[in-house]
Amino acid sequence: MDRQDPPENVGSVTPATPFCYAGCSEAHLASSPDQGPVIAVVFSGGDSPGMNPLLRFLVRLGLNRHGARIVGIKDGFAGLVRTCNRITRGDLNVANLRREMALYAGSAGIHRRALDVVLLDHVSVSGLTARGGIILGTARCPEFHDSGTRGQVAELLEGLGVDALINVGGNGTLEGARRLAAEAGMIVVAIPATIDDDVDSTERALGFDTAVNNAMRAIEQINDTANSHHRIMVVETMGRDCGNLALTAALTAGVEIVVTPERGPLTAAKMTAIAERLQQSFDRGQTHAVVLIAEGVKTSDERRDGAAAFLRRFLEAHFQRCSLPAPRMEVRDNVLGHLQRGGSPTAADRILAAQFAEAAWEAIMASPQQSGVLGLRSGQICLGAFEGSPPADVEVVQKAIYALQKSASKWV
Ligand code: F6P
Repeated sequence: MDRQDPPENVGSVTPATPFCYAGCSEAHLASSPDQGPVIAVVFSGGDSPGMNPLLRFLVRLGLNRHGARIVGIKDGFAGLVRTCNRITRGDLNVANLRREMALYAGSAGIHRRALDVVLLDHVSVSGLTARGGIILGTARCPEFHDSGTRGQVAELLEGLGVDALINVGGNGTLEGARRLAAEAGMIVVAIPATIDDDVDSTERALGFDTAVNNAMRAIEQINDTANSHHRIMVVETMGRDCGNLALTAALTAGVEIVVTPERGPLTAAKMTAIAERLQQSFDRGQTHAVVLIAEGVKTSDERRDGAAAFLRRFLEAHFQRCSLPAPRMEVRDNVLGHLQRGGSPTAADRILAAQFAEAAWEAIMASPQQSGVLGLRSGQICLGAFEGSPPADVEVVQKAIYALQKSASKWV
């Protein structure tokens, strides 16, 4: 650490004192009843498009409506764990950390490598509505699975005067948020953001719409080359164990065959049925095809080179065996991978980001405050308990999309 002051209170976390906000020259201000709350914002797990606009809306609404001070955490909980480790090693103490935060507020703090907690101001979040990724960084943090580490993190946040935490991410993140709230008695409001769209509390996770658009466009491009070469393209989407991304991309890109984990493992019988459906379309004059498969589909693949490669090998062997006049189709596989997670968020994700930000502030400013996870349910953003049951509509929506996709894909 490039320390400016000698350490004081090394290793201990001092009682909460509010921060001086950006633009102040003093490190601390005396506590005053008319000051807004101090809120920390942490993004964890895989990044998701819409996180940057969400950060902008959280900061702007917090500053403009609530007079809050907002502390951005870098690289997910890893940023807090690193800070705790520096304190434990004696390289840093909370008083010096606060001083550094006041000195390097806003963009200066974001760009300062040695600083993992940053006071955010208006300008530091400027221009974020259009940007993919998350400027604060995000990470999966195995250390945070340890309750002792979570205790240290909670103590650090308390020492920094943080009144509540906003935690943004997917299912792993929500579990960490739940534990932090339960163990430390801290107010934690979680916001579901994942391209997998597999969070029970919400009918739509932040970033899903952009990922669907990214996948849809990539499939359309792959379809152009499939068409030119009269090929079958097997395309693999992300989504972890959930098929929502694959299914919705299939519907929007006009893909006729989509394989999702929800419909069970990819057996030999299922692959034969896929080959037969392809053959039917070729018999009707179709000269190419895209088959979409979600990464979470279970196969008996011993090579472990992914669901798309497994299905491609089967189809290749199948169509090579076909005797003329059946077409000897070439088959290729493509893994869309991380391109689905990047890029400028769609308007729908930006709107959802604004709505989640507003609801997060409402939850934090409510009296009494409650921890929980936000979710979109029947057009409304609500705060639900971390252990709340899934809203029934999630399944209904997915079943309807599946039925639509299926009806639009038959060659009968
Ligand atoms: O959870 C989001 C996600 O993109 C999944 O769809 C995917 O399985 C995983 O993260 C990939 O993680 P990583 O970027 O760490 O390889």
